[in-house]
Amino acid sequence: MPARRCWGVIPAAGIGSRMGGDTPKQYLQVAGATVLEHSLGALLECAEIAAVVVALHPEDSRPAHMACFEDERVIIAPGGAERSDSVLAGLEALAGRAGDSDWVLVHDAARPCIRGEDIRRLMAEVNARNCGGILAQPVNDTVKRARDDRTVEATLDRSRLWRAQTPQMFPLGLLRDALAQARERGGAVTDEASAMEMAGHPVLLVPGSPGNLKITLPADLPLAAWYLGHPEGV
Ligand code: CTP
Ligand code: MG
Repeated sequence: MPARRCWGVIPAAGIGSRMGGDTPKQYLQVAGATVLEHSLGALLECAEIAAVVVALHPEDSRPAHMACFEDERVIIAPGGAERSDSVLAGLEALAGRAGDSDWVLVHDAARPCIRGEDIRRLMAEVNARNCGGILAQPVNDTVKRARDDRTVEATLDRSRLWRAQTPQMFPLGLLRDALAQARERGGAVTDEASAMEMAGHPVLLVPGSPGNLKITLPADLPLAAWYLGHPEGV
């Protein structure tokens, strides 16, 4: 049987509405490069990844001026209205190159501080357990569930709560079918794992690093700059 190859998909077609400003957050500068150059560069540094599809907004012409898009391992796909549409478009762009049993790592463009060692830990655990998985962080705060009137209904057992990060690594065919099914059902799918969960597939939680934050609000940018300047981590 041929070895299962690994592919990357980077959804980068969002407009960054919570960030505000005219420039989508994936094109903001942080620690000497754009957010997207950092996240794409991290995946390209993984020799195990055969190629990386970047899903871009159809009207986005910025990559024409970016050196990392000249890499022959980078493929461009047109993104969609929701993040999951962009991911699905990225998976579809791999048809003909990749097999259904190949692995795909989906990584947010907006997570520029991802470290190679975290990607390698995810790959190693997913391969060892032969079970799709995601990087995630245990929740440190005490977490409350609210009623409609904003009073507390319950305090949750945080020892079982994790914050999902990316990359999220699954077999390409199963992920494509799970995302397509979720789209038909119309359920909220904010990450790949939730589509896989809905389809009844197991998802392994692999401990990541606190620095792998998703740039969402303006205050996240200086934080990301700090983490990028301290790659040894905390
Ligand atoms: N994304 C995408 N296609 C979309 C929406 C989001 O490819 N239709 C990408 C974003 O570019 C980002 C990642 O998915 O890299 C995570 O999404 P999020 O942080 O929500 O980014 P935005 O949707 O751009 O931000 P906002 O929700 O604040 O508008
Ligand atoms: Mg969004």
